[in-house]
Amino acid sequence: MPDNATLEYNGQKFEFPVIKGTENELAIDINTLRAKSGMITLDPGYKNTGSCESAITFLDGEKGILRYRGYAIEELAEKADFLEVAYLLIFGELPDKERLEKFHHDIKVESTVDEEMKKILDGFPKSAHPMGVLSSLTSALIAFNPVSVNVSSEKAMYYAIVRIMAKFPVLVAWTLRKKMGLPLDYGDDSLGYVENIHKMMFKKPNKEYVKNKIVIEALDKLLILHADHEQNCSTSTVRMVGSSHAGLFASLSAGISALWGPLHGGANQAVLEMLEAIEADGGDTQKYMAKAKDKNDPFRLMGFGHRVYKNFDPRAKIIKKAADEVLGDLGIEDPVLEIAKDLANEALEDPYFVERKLYPNVDFYSGIIYRALGIPTDMFTVMFALGRLPGWIAQWREMRLRNEPIGRPRQVYIGENLRPFVPLDRR
Ligand code: SDX
Repeated sequence: MPDNATLEYNGQKFEFPVIKGTENELAIDINTLRAKSGMITLDPGYKNTGSCESAITFLDGEKGILRYRGYAIEELAEKADFLEVAYLLIFGELPDKERLEKFHHDIKVESTVDEEMKKILDGFPKSAHPMGVLSSLTSALIAFNPVSVNVSSEKAMYYAIVRIMAKFPVLVAWTLRKKMGLPLDYGDDSLGYVENIHKMMFKKPNKEYVKNKIVIEALDKLLILHADHEQNCSTSTVRMVGSSHAGLFASLSAGISALWGPLHGGANQAVLEMLEAIEADGGDTQKYMAKAKDKNDPFRLMGFGHRVYKNFDPRAKIIKKAADEVLGDLGIEDPVLEIAKDLANEALEDPYFVERKLYPNVDFYSGIIYRALGIPTDMFTVMFALGRLPGWIAQWREMRLRNEPIGRPRQVYIGENLRPFVPLDRR
């Protein structure tokens, strides 16, 4: 394998080292490109550009492979629980019983949120989108946890991490309960991490909370499947904001805003709205397929396509199977699930989608399960953020521990050349 890559331009040759990852990915290290050649690269959307070296998540878009710290997503989804996977992503190893119990204990110690935060939540109208509320509350949390801002040691970093692992689910629950007009309550620290989240979200003040094992297991699996996905848009945002040494909570707040977009995490809400529109339209999937293929129509088949997966998204396969199981176990007949399956089957045979390698992604089926679990549609992306929290934390921690430089891309200027100022009376 060559150690260097050569760039030839204008009669000059420039050599750059080639880096090989542990899964044999090759990258040209262009750290010295501008110093040597005076040139930069241009790559809108960073489709060909690596922003960092990372040991957290590996995915192979051609083979449909996804691994967290070397463990296959299929195994983790089947055999682990979400708190274990969070520990694995953040600290690099599956925890033994003692470490997992200590992690959960340290989280429970921090699982209350300053009552003053309710005044901030009160300021939002019920109609506010939950992602905007959650991003604001996450940023507001900084004011009540100033020690979590300038983490100068691994110990300080650890306490910022357990604080947000503890308080973020409370903010998620309060965001939902505000919408539903329910009291902003807490769960029960004696429960498991995910069961406690579910209780915080759904417990009615006048009713006993009854655990539904199917629901908790489905939620746990969905959170695992969303936990990390290497350098996606929102994770890159968390890293970019964190690279200025803004605190963990500020970086997460920015990541939540990036995830909100319908091209990214907001797609799970957009998918269900699309499926409901198709259902209202008499199940006319062909009409929506035609719209998706029409270049003059901005409509895209939400939940389809992926920047990296040019084959199936392994998470979509697991979620599709889970959707069948959960709806079956709960005895729910959801017509949009059948529409989703029809749409997927048609798209998988349609040349437009096949040529562009557009397959169902993680967001295509997840909304169907969320709806079966009683989660309102505009809370779906909040659930994505809840799952992605440990991944964002892991990536932010790795970036800080590796002392990555502040992110500051270059540009190619295409504006006006130098021109003299023209006074107002002569314009
Ligand atoms: C997530 O990056 C991650 O890892 C993200 C994520 C994670 O876990 O963090 O996996 C989560 O964000 C999943 C993606 C959710 N988004 C959607 O489902 C929205 C619908 N999908 C598209 O918007 C699109 O596929 C993207 C944004 C996901 C990917 O876009 P790319 O890689 O920039 O591809 P592109 O826009 O250049 O499209 C290539 C071609 C274009 O057609 P041509 O110009 O070549 O003719 O495919 C077409 C696009 O028009 N195309 C679609 C399409 N997606 C791409 N056409 C119709 N419907 C679609 N969904």
